[in-house]
Amino acid sequence: MFPLKPKIHIVTFGCQMNEHDSERMAGLLVAEGFSYAANMDDADMVLINSCTIRQKAEEKAFSQAGRINVMKRDKPHLKIGFCGCVAQREKHEIFRRAPYIDLVFGTLNIPKLPFYVKRLFQGEERICQVSEDPIFENYHYCSALRSNPVKAWITIMEGCNNFCTYCVVPYVRGRERSRTLDDILNEVRFLAESGYKEVTLLGQNVNSYGKGLAPSIDFAGLLYRLDQIPGLERIRFTTSHPKDLSADLIQAMKSCEKVCEHIHLPIQSGSDAVLEKMGRGYTVKEYLSKVEALRESIPEIAITSDMICGFPGESERDFEQTLKVMEIISFDGLFSFKYSQRPQTLASQLPEQVPERVKTERLARLQMLQNDISTQMNTRLTGTVQPLLIEGTSKRATGKLTGRTRTNKLTHLTGPSNLIGKIVKVKIIRSKPFDLEAERVK
Ligand code: 5AD
Ligand code: SF4
Repeated sequence: MFPLKPKIHIVTFGCQMNEHDSERMAGLLVAEGFSYAANMDDADMVLINSCTIRQKAEEKAFSQAGRINVMKRDKPHLKIGFCGCVAQREKHEIFRRAPYIDLVFGTLNIPKLPFYVKRLFQGEERICQVSEDPIFENYHYCSALRSNPVKAWITIMEGCNNFCTYCVVPYVRGRERSRTLDDILNEVRFLAESGYKEVTLLGQNVNSYGKGLAPSIDFAGLLYRLDQIPGLERIRFTTSHPKDLSADLIQAMKSCEKVCEHIHLPIQSGSDAVLEKMGRGYTVKEYLSKVEALRESIPEIAITSDMICGFPGESERDFEQTLKVMEIISFDGLFSFKYSQRPQTLASQLPEQVPERVKTERLARLQMLQNDISTQMNTRLTGTVQPLLIEGTSKRATGKLTGRTRTNKLTHLTGPSNLIGKIVKVKIIRSKPFDLEAERVK
């Protein structure tokens, strides 16, 4: 016997794009008469939205599937779906690795999810649907079930044409394609009217937004248009590629009142030789000059970045250059990773793979240095007054609210819950490497 209105729970791994895909999948399912189970134990079906960016992320998704399979013993009708980037890449192979999985579908098949789930609950077994062609035109029919009532993610482009030699994304997310301006404006207007105060524009490379669209528009142009939407208070975006960060875009960030003073600008390495082998399309000097231009135009801007250590052929000297560049730039925050060999990518074929022990040791050195830098950067904010958008209650500290500065610093403060969704003036009273503490000022 199958339940009349199956409850579905989604577990997500990976980036914000994936998180937002899960919100869209939940929205689609609810629109088609399914219900969303906030708790896995209540679910009739669990969907695992996987990430393949690094080997470790991929393994986590399979371990999760194994744990859910154990739940099938007490709940034989429980279905398991597997989607996201690993599904897109491995297709039928998923069944070989985890034969208890009932549904596999790719990142490009999301709009058809309710249809697959219906077939499954009607008794069909082992459905695998992985399309190679985007069905992006259907995008605007998907109204996402968003997890936060104050800030919303919105996809503006998908895919990537860069083919950095370490990266699997172009193989699992396809070529770059942008949503139309009207489509994005409509969704953001709707969000603002529904009470959302902040949007984060998502894409693998947002600042190359607009290629191939008619009438022509670029990312800077999109920001100017979004800045005019009434009710919306803050605009953020991620991820930006340094080679596509134009003077026009910096000017737009400076001019648009709602665009926050933060940019996530992955550098990946501080060695020109490594950047060249990564196929990043810029040198350290060029990256530094973009940072300089950003800080000159927007002095309070926070800059965060991604760094990979142990890329094939990275010597101790290359790595020391990375540390040096980190000291020169002083990133506000840094996501750092050990290089992970990914299938299909050029770098996975390179000789001189760096031993795991060296990667581990380099990552630890890098993270120690960044902790000091982040502490210094946050200490500079102590005593300053900032507008804080209150996003919700703190998961860690009971009775505390959390918010973010315009520079995207996570900040805790004590206050009543009716402040959620409001922008309040606060003074930063304490700083730590990863968050700040503040109190309200009149
Ligand atoms: N190994 C390690 N890190 C990677 N990233 C992307 N591909 C790999 C890989 N093969 C990192 C990059 C990217 C971030 C999202 O993940 O730093 O910016
Ligand atoms: Fe992971 Fe990349 Fe897929 Fe995001 S797009 S889930 S980072 S592989």
